Amino acid sequence: MFGIVALSKNNVIGFRNKIPWRYPEDMKFFKNQTTGNIVIMGRNTWESMGSKPLPNRLNIILSTTISNPNNINNPNNIDKTNSCIWCKSKREVLDIIDQCNSEEKRDVYVIGGNQIYELFSDQITRWYITHIPEEIMAHRELIYFNTSLLYNFRKPEWVPTQTIWLSDDVCVEKLERIK
Ligand SMILES: NC(=O)c1ccc[n+]([C@@H]2O[C@H](COP(=O)([O-])OP(=O)(O)OC[C@H]3O[C@@H](n4cnc5c(N)ncnc54)[C@H](OP(=O)(O)O)[C@@H]3O)[C@@H](O)[C@H]2O)c1
Repeated sequence: MFGIVALSKNNVIGFRNKIPWRYPEDMKFFKNQTTGNIVIMGRNTWESMGSKPLPNRLNIILSTTISNPNNINNPNNIDKTNSCIWCKSKREVLDIIDQCNSEEKRDVYVIGGNQIYELFSDQITRWYITHIPEEIMAHRELIYFNTSLLYNFRKPEWVPTQTIWLSDDVCVEKLERIK
């Protein structure tokens, strides 16, 4: 399972349920990585994207309050490349993924927000972190990424396993879990 996130210089990921910047090169990177695969997100992130599934991906959405809005939760009944499954718990998500991947193996990306990164942090073996070259001004409605989730992915003498430059000033770090 992979985590994928875009972080400002001060570790902001969201503001008022939106992403407070727009970098088409990062959107393209995100699309390339996740298309054809499985994405897991929280209800806030789902709503931040206009409550529409990301196309050509199986969208798994976590919520304790909303369940099965379109009666599509039976994984045998859905178009698994372009649909949504709502889950009430991490356990349910992991069971659905096992079931889907027993038929056809696909990568699984945890796409946020912070609550969901925290929930699946023990399952994530690789992070894709886009560094956004901006400092977002402090505000009480900002959502920050919990950088302690990267603890097992960095050492004091840490060096990036791989850096991918998307443009002159935007890069992605690819971090593997330290065994
Ligand atoms: N920069 C980036 O890369 C990036 C990526 C993704 C999102 N974002 C931003 O991050 C912000 C949203 O992040 P967030 O942390 O506020 O919200 P979130 O993680 O997207 O969603 C939180 C919701 O998920 C559900 N949830 C959480 N834990 C659960 C559990 N154990 N079981 C079942 N459901 C659970 C709850 O929904 P219910 O309340 O319905 O129970 C909770 O309110 C937005 O601003 C978004 O734009 C940024």
